[in-house]
This record gives sequence, structure tokens and C-alpha cells, in this order.
Amino acid sequence: MKNRRIPLIAMLAAISAAAVFSGCGGNEKNMTAAGASKEEEELVVSDTHSDDGKEIVGIAMPSVNLERWNRDGAFLQSQFEAAGYEVIKEHADDLIDDQIADIRGMIAANVDLLIIAPVDGSSLTKVLKEAEAAAIPVISYDRLLRDSPYVDYYVSFDNYRVGTLQGEFIRDALDLEHAGGESYNIEITAGDPVDNNARYFYNGMYDVIAPYLEKGTLVVPSGQTDFYTTATSSWSTDLAEERFSGILNSYYAGNKQLSAAICSNDSTALGVTRAITDNYRGGNEVLITGQDADEENLKNLLDGRQTMTVYKALSNETVVTLALGKAIMSGQTPGEDLIEASDFGFACAYDTESYDNGEITVPSYLLEPVVITKDNVDEELVDTGYYSYDEQGYLRAN
Ligand code: GAL
Repeated sequence: MKNRRIPLIAMLAAISAAAVFSGCGGNEKNMTAAGASKEEEELVVSDTHSDDGKEIVGIAMPSVNLERWNRDGAFLQSQFEAAGYEVIKEHADDLIDDQIADIRGMIAANVDLLIIAPVDGSSLTKVLKEAEAAAIPVISYDRLLRDSPYVDYYVSFDNYRVGTLQGEFIRDALDLEHAGGESYNIEITAGDPVDNNARYFYNGMYDVIAPYLEKGTLVVPSGQTDFYTTATSSWSTDLAEERFSGILNSYYAGNKQLSAAICSNDSTALGVTRAITDNYRGGNEVLITGQDADEENLKNLLDGRQTMTVYKALSNETVVTLALGKAIMSGQTPGEDLIEASDFGFACAYDTESYDNGEITVPSYLLEPVVITKDNVDEELVDTGYYSYDEQGYLRAN
């Protein structure tokens, strides 16, 4: 546990709250007064947390509505428990206030580490300050915690790369480099505007397609191209379906063709696929992108209704988080060395430059996303042990 300077009042509040919530006696606090004024007395706290055998890890996930977060939560919980930690895990149902309450409960329960995937990266500034006051280190999980200096590490995938993979897939599938005078209609569906990742996905994708939009090789008949116009609150399948049905009815009347629907993730791709199934009369197979390898989307992939998804091995993301969490809780300040020491067996980069959260640049461990199509799904998802086929011949995450 790293030493932190914290205000006395906050410290005492945290201790008494912890006593009330955890009911655990015998927490020895090792405090050293560091001369200060009466009002602003500060302490250096070397360990504010339990010495009762087990350390506690608080896991705050953003949602129960999307498959991936249920899997992340389950993986994180089982891995930390198997490593001997106690776990408090909450899912915030996509609601900011729920998540703040979840994290406050964890601070009060005297957790030794917080792992947070925020609903809204910018809405936790205050509660992160409270975590800091209780000397609890924080790992920002998958989505970046913004506007706070109290974020110790970030574990995620290369989010910009996710977007470039989607853009490159469409570029290559339509062979835009050799389009001659041909032009193709496309539409964009982006993610949740309060999710910091959504803009990285959008930017990565847009940077690939922009030159073709400029040349007129790609055309967006709806005219909806910027991030906010194409965004989807809460990554909602229903909202994506509603918006896309509107686009098809307004801009693709008759049998006007749509070549590609670039969707930032699988939950939005699902809505767009439904809209296309019900409202599209162009007759061609529309290329549809996604992200997450959600089971329903893999079903669509096998049935030819979705063309690709970007897979992010969540179990690997949790493996890195476990290694990092263990190192932090044992008093280390890990850096690049964590990767060498852990011998993960998959690609992971340490990055101290890319993720500026508005207050600090958060040291990050970034994993590599992979494109999945019908052609490589067995090799990438089944042979690797991430998924297996069920009796109906569909893929289920292991
Ligand atoms: C992002 C995450 C994606 C996707 C999306 C919707 O933050 O990186 O994998 O699942 O949220 O929840």
C-alpha cells in the first residue's frame, strides 16, 4: 500500500465509517502526524486497511445490461477470490448515481483496492477524492476515469486501434483503394458519448475512412457523420435500432443501396442489424462491424447477418488487472517491469503517454484487439479456449 498524505478529518471519517460497515476490529492504523495547522492537519498513512487476514477488493462495473460487463465482473471476482482476496462487486445499471453509491459503500467497507469501469468517466471526481482520502488505490478498468488526479493505473485495450480495425475492415472489404469511379453508401453508429472509449473508437474508425469520404468514394446519405450525431446513449440496442430505422426510412427509400454500417460495438450492431432486417429493401448484404464478440452477435456472424466483430479477450484484461492489483496491494509501484515479471503469454504494452485524463496522464497497460470474421472465428475464439460451441452449434463464452 503506498503512502499518501490525507486530511485528518477525512481519515477519521473513513475509519469510523469502516468500523460501522465492516464491523471488523483489530485494524491497526499506522499513522504519523505531519505538522500542520489545526484545521488542515495532515497525516501520512502507511496502511489504513485490514490486517485481519484477507484484503478486500472493490469491483465497480458499469452495467448489467451488456454481456461484456457481466463477464468482466465474473472473471475479476473469481480471479481475485482464487488469489485469496475478498471481493465486493457491484454493477451500476448504467446509472451514475448508482455507481457513486456503489463506490461509497466500498470505501466505507474499507476496501484495499478499487477497480472501476465508470458509467461516465467524468462523473466520479468527487468520490475518487474520497477514495484518495481513505488511501485506497484505484485502477481504472477498460474505461478511463477522467478529471481526477486520483487514478493510479489504467488497464484496457488499445481503444483507438479498435476503431482503426473497423475502418480498415470496411476499406478492404469494399476495396476502396481500387474503387475507380465507384462510390459506396455507408452509415456510422458510434457509442455512448459519456464513455471515454467511444470517442477513441470513433476517431480510429473515422481517420481510416476520412480520405475516402473526401474523395467521394464513400458517401453518407443521412449526412450524419460527427461523433455526437452518430452516438448512442448507454450503447443501447433499442436506441441504435430506432435511429437506424429512421435513417433507412428517410434516406434509403425504394431499393437504394447501403454498402456498410459501421457500428462501434456489438450491442449497437445488434440494433442496426434488426433495423436492416426489418426496414432495408436494397437487396444486397450490408457489411456490419461490431466489437466485443457478444454471443448473440457471434450467432449473427455465423448466420451471415453481421460481418465482423473486434474481440477483446476480457479474461486477459482481468489477468493483467489481477497481477497489477496484487503488486499494488503488496506495496510495489509497478511499471513496465510488471509485464516482464508476469510473463502473461499475450501481448500487453505499458504506455505512459496516451491516456491523459484531463488532470494527469494515467500509466496504462494496453492489450491488443483482434478482428473476428466467419473465417477465423474457430482459430481465434474456439482453438484458443475462449468460446465453445453449444448443442445448437452456437458459440458460448467459456
Ligand atoms: C466500452 C467497452 C466496449 C463496449 C462498450 C459498451 O467502454 O470498451 O468493449 O463494451 O463499452 O459497453
